[in-house]
Amino acid sequence: MKFLTMSDFDFNGKKVLLRVDLNSPVINGKIRLNDRIAEHAKTIKELVNKKAKVAILAHQGRPGKEDFLDLRQHAKMLTKLTGKKIRYVDDLYGNEAINKIKNMKSGEAVLLKNVRSSKLEMLALSPKRHSASDFVKTLTPLFDFFIQDAFSVCHRSHASVVGFAYAMPSIAGRVLEKELKSLEKIKKIGKATYILGGAKPEEDLALLKHASKNKILTAGTFCLFCLSAANCNLGKENEILDKNIVKSLKMFMKKSNLFMPIDFVDEDGKEVELSDLPTDKLIFDIGRKTIDRYKKIIKSSKAIFLKGPVGKYEEKKFQFGTKEIFKAVADSKAFSVVGGGNTVDAINRFRIPKNRFSHVSLGGGALISYVIGKKLPGLEVLKKWTE
Ligand code: 3PG
Repeated sequence: MKFLTMSDFDFNGKKVLLRVDLNSPVINGKIRLNDRIAEHAKTIKELVNKKAKVAILAHQGRPGKEDFLDLRQHAKMLTKLTGKKIRYVDDLYGNEAINKIKNMKSGEAVLLKNVRSSKLEMLALSPKRHSASDFVKTLTPLFDFFIQDAFSVCHRSHASVVGFAYAMPSIAGRVLEKELKSLEKIKKIGKATYILGGAKPEEDLALLKHASKNKILTAGTFCLFCLSAANCNLGKENEILDKNIVKSLKMFMKKSNLFMPIDFVDEDGKEVELSDLPTDKLIFDIGRKTIDRYKKIIKSSKAIFLKGPVGKYEEKKFQFGTKEIFKAVADSKAFSVVGGGNTVDAINRFRIPKNRFSHVSLGGGALISYVIGKKLPGLEVLKKWTE
């Protein structure tokens, strides 16, 4: 895919509307600094240094959810990371926002109110219909360019993702550019080993359907679903497994080159063999024999796609599987793409240098959609400006 990038333009004195993804984990009302904020800060800094006038669009959480917050804390973090004052404007497209945008000086950046504070944002409409909304129609004439920097929202057909990109000349930002360059490579590689973990088995199922001819090492919650679909009685875990996913898995597993764990760590931190199942304890990590087996496969792989932690890595007792498998991927010679869910958080927690992976994606759902070959509305609309 070829897009216009930030290298193609002179931004001096130009008004730029920039969509980034600052969506962050929230603990007790406080957002946690993470790679998304740090990476987008670099794009903002570049634009500010190039003397653009930048208004930033972003979201945090979803209305009605605990993590739905305004973006004041994010503005403070961006200020720290960029070394430039990023002012927060508690308005999205009303008079306050319009005045602020009209009066921006070269080299100034402001962060507008959470885009999801507007009901118009999350309607699943076509780019053309979004471009006709009050939100998009009000802001568009105030800018020279729209920059889409957030690969991680490109799977959403939301106003700030597709509406502005339809209505005005649009460019891929640095974060998006980097993601796409790396992801293009995995497409060309052909066969890869997929390590599917994390806590969203429905995403793993989608990837399984897509990658059935490849080696698939199952981990995280997903391996428990697979074992159940292979008629293994897990005991206590049976009660919490979604039966529909197990049913779908039964159909697809037969055609897949799937590897399942042969030992585990239970909720008390005790090692359990496959032959010991069922157990009246929950299972929170894979065991040492499985780790050794998976490591051998990782070592001989030419390309690896890793999605999601292997176990309940947030707790010390259950970190071993995630740490060992992630390190094995980092140490391998394979072209490796990692991302989705809490993958980046686990990498940071275990201090694994990111440059040991070929690409660390900031995308969650967007990454999965991309890898399984779905068209991403936020990328499709950008093509309008290059074709
Ligand atoms: C993400 O966290 O993956 C993106 O910010 C998209 O968020 P959403 O799933 O709430 O649309």
